Amino acid sequence: MEIYKDIAPLQQYLNGHKFHGKKIGFVPTMGALHNGHLSLIQASLQDTDITVCSIYVNPAQFNNSQDLDKYPRNLDQDISLLQKAGCHVLFCPDDSEIYTEQPKISFNFDGLDQVMEGKFRPGHFSGVGLIVSKLFNIVAPHYAYFGQKDLQQYLIIRQLVKDLSYNVQLKCIPIMREADGMAMSSRNRRLTEEGRDKAVILYRALNEAQKLLNARVELPQVKNEVTTIINRAGVELEYFEIVNPETLELMDHNLSGKNVALCVAGYVDDVRLIDNVIFNLE
Ligand code: PAJ
Repeated sequence: MEIYKDIAPLQQYLNGHKFHGKKIGFVPTMGALHNGHLSLIQASLQDTDITVCSIYVNPAQFNNSQDLDKYPRNLDQDISLLQKAGCHVLFCPDDSEIYTEQPKISFNFDGLDQVMEGKFRPGHFSGVGLIVSKLFNIVAPHYAYFGQKDLQQYLIIRQLVKDLSYNVQLKCIPIMREADGMAMSSRNRRLTEEGRDKAVILYRALNEAQKLLNARVELPQVKNEVTTIINRAGVELEYFEIVNPETLELMDHNLSGKNVALCVAGYVDDVRLIDNVIFNLE
């Protein structure tokens, strides 16, 4: 695997391959890689000739400096996982290579960034928009891979690609889960054993909500039930929303025949976790 910390030699390498008609697939990450990230790498390896993974913990998207400080970092292990997976290129820049000065631009996604994650993490999606724009400009990939785990992030990047005319095809990859159903996440590494046991309640609550909605239980009652299940397990619920998976608009009471996303965020100890399920109600 080729490893680059600097932009110029990375671009020189990629330009050579692009000149020969090779398709470039790109998987942006913040490292502390797990099988969820590796499923994105696998998808890129299948579709494209050269897979580029980036590992960069982007300060601009952290609204909480403690969360940034505590974000797990393990570059040596990440390199060996990427090598085993067959990834071709790793781009792992330092802050000074990405932010040569304090950026002045900010992004506003007309409401898409004001709900759910955006409501509780002010400025987060502006920071995501900024780093993903920079990385798209640096790598200029043909395909880019994102996880459904961060559904709102995917929708925001889809908007960014449309609005800024990026010539990249986006792919949204399903959520990889642990054996008990809990969504894989870099932040899971920060959980204690006890916290890890509690955390699976987020996924269980989503499943219960799906069952209730299929049984035509009214939305406010479903919300109450989910809140009770999660709080009873000792997990602090931040939000649970029933939304349109394309627009994130809140669903009204008539869900028949519609696609629905159930999205949840909660704290286990001081670790913030998110999850979602998307399904069609007959
Ligand atoms: P990070 O949290 O490292 O996630 C990188 C990619 O992996 C994202 O697209 C995310 O949705 C996907 N992912 C995470 N957990 C997953 C799982 N269990 N199954 C499938 N995919 C999963 O998201 C970011 O980094 C950053 O915001 C980034 C886009 C890199 C910009 O800084």
